[in-house]
Amino acid sequence: ISTSLLFQSHIIFLSLGLKWLNMKFSEALYTIDSALLNEKFVKAPEGLYEPIDYTLGNGGKRIRPSLVIMACDLFSGEIVDAIKPALGIEIFHNFTLLHDDIMDNAPIRRGKPTVQTKWNDNTAILSGDAMLIKAYQYIATTPAEYLEQVLDVFSRTGLLVCEGQQYDMDFECRNDVSVAEYMKMIELKTAVLLGAALKIGAIIGGAKRSDALNLYRFGTDIGLAFQLQDDLLDVFANQSEFGKKIGGDIVSNKKTFLLIHALEKAEGTTKAELNRWLAATEYEPAEKIAAITGIYTDLGLDSLSREVMNGYYQHAIETIRKICVEPESINDLIEVADLLMARTK
Ligand code: IPE
Ligand code: IPE
Ligand code: MG
Ligand code: MG
Ligand code: MG
Repeated sequence: ISTSLLFQSHIIFLSLGLKWLNMKFSEALYTIDSALLNEKFVKAPEGLYEPIDYTLGNGGKRIRPSLVIMACDLFSGEIVDAIKPALGIEIFHNFTLLHDDIMDNAPIRRGKPTVQTKWNDNTAILSGDAMLIKAYQYIATTPAEYLEQVLDVFSRTGLLVCEGQQYDMDFECRNDVSVAEYMKMIELKTAVLLGAALKIGAIIGGAKRSDALNLYRFGTDIGLAFQLQDDLLDVFANQSEFGKKIGGDIVSNKKTFLLIHALEKAEGTTKAELNRWLAATEYEPAEKIAAITGIYTDLGLDSLSREVMNGYYQHAIETIRKICVEPESINDLIEVADLLMARTK
């Protein structure tokens, strides 16, 4: 892992607008980055392990492991038992990204070439597989009294993510995907992992069942807003800040919130233009991206998307307030949710 990691996370902070205000989040992030620096991933054969080091060393926001730590901290002052399981969640997340980037044909992530671009598809498949196994090894360090519960949450969540990814792929070839189907798909591919991160932290912190469940629900609602935001950023972000290629979802006909609503709302020549782009096989990607982005803007879908995001955010806040802890102690998690809603990367 590159020694610039700690420095990178400071930059991430600032770009998320955190400005060192949220101490619990900055402490959790620092804990994760320091723990990752101590882990050695590279050994022979380097073709297998180097891409793992590359991926984990390229930063990322480290939201999920930070949530594990913060959730544990909510119920127990002792976060040390949660550190390795938190790394397990982050390694699992990064594994999904290696395979997702093959499936989505993505050339860049975190401002750097994706593993399949820098090496090749086979490397991204096998190094990804090794990361999934490593993730289990880290999760397995959970203290014995909580291990069975944590493994159960982790395994179930991993399968749900696969289900979500399959729906995401299936939907590329369909033009009749409903908003409800889309919401289910993003719940599976993205939201459940944020929920699981919080739940696992809560379990290791000794939380009672109802509190762990409410944190899970808070996490999945924030996760739904997170993926809605990701879909928006895929179209409207600044590429160098976002670190991923803008318009990737448009090029692959991903059934995002924006496209599903465009298909429902567009009329006349706009509808015909949209359908022509969806059916096109030979075209200049930049032209398709510009045309479809224009349709989204004309239909006001960016603001609709923000409204819906906000609804999930509000619901998340109502849920986290039900947890039986000192009311102020949930403020740090609420602040993280605020930061995510405003993120630009
Ligand atoms: C990317 O997750 C995948 C999605 C669920 C949208 P993040 O946006 O958390 O990616 P990193 O880890 O910060 O790069
Ligand atoms: C991410 O969905 C879901 C998983 C990686 C499981 P996306 O395909 O939208 O994520 P990005 O945009 O590539 O990070
Ligand atoms: Mg994808
Ligand atoms: Mg992708
Ligand atoms: Mg995306």
